[in-house]
Amino acid sequence: MLNFKNNIAKVEGWLTEAEGIFLYETAKKVRPGNAILEIGSWKGKSTICLGKGTQQGNEVQVYAVDPHIGSSEHQKMFGKVDTYQEFLQNIKNAGVEKYVEPIRKTSEEASKNIRKSIGFLFVDGAHEYKFVNLDYKLWFAKVVDQGVVAFHDSWHFPGPHLVTAKMLLFSSAIKNPQLIDTITSFTKVNKNSFFDRIYNIGFLFFRLIFGFYGFLKLKYKGSVIK
Ligand SMILES: C[S@@+](CC[C@H](N)C(=O)[O-])C[C@H]1O[C@@H](n2cnc3c(N)ncnc32)[C@H](O)[C@@H]1O
Repeated sequence: MLNFKNNIAKVEGWLTEAEGIFLYETAKKVRPGNAILEIGSWKGKSTICLGKGTQQGNEVQVYAVDPHIGSSEHQKMFGKVDTYQEFLQNIKNAGVEKYVEPIRKTSEEASKNIRKSIGFLFVDGAHEYKFVNLDYKLWFAKVVDQGVVAFHDSWHFPGPHLVTAKMLLFSSAIKNPQLIDTITSFTKVNKNSFFDRIYNIGFLFFRLIFGFYGFLKLKYKGSVIK
């Protein structure tokens, strides 16, 4: 089981305990031969949850993609940002460096070199619509049938909110949507059913209302811990 409160909560980042456990449990189930891909690592809070999951699971590779210069909101908050050394140290302290391959690039640059099939895609990079949509376009096709795709901050940031809403309304390749605090996740399938599509649309309304609770949890309980 993931010891979120004692170890991971100390790493600075934006993740609630429920979100961390979701990343851990999903990473644990990724099948051998597939990889886990994270877009946006910051100082490694979510990466550690993924690393711990794969350590307890099938020991598949975690690609942690981040230029480590922060997103526009971080640059506004903190000025010039470089999170790379702290990221490496946190991954090492957590004992998961064996499973994590840091890729110090943008999602777009990284997509040119990573050819591996993806069993779990976690999107938490730049949150503007154009970047989240680009992440979706670049990586969704590389996710295997029955793989999991998850977007963080999907209720209160317009970028991830709109991209996931579009997927829920129009995609014929997703089913089983779930809301874990601010994460919206789906299972990728070759073709969903009519019932899946109705369920996906229903979920969109459910998320509009219950996403507020996850947002409050992230804001007041799971936010930055320095
Ligand atoms: C919200 S933070 C990630 C938080 C992290 N997942 C956690 O749980 O602590 C967003 C990160 O995305 C990174 N980022 C910004 N633009 C990116 C891009 N185009 N591709 C990949 N990562 C990007 C930033 O450097 C920043 O570290």
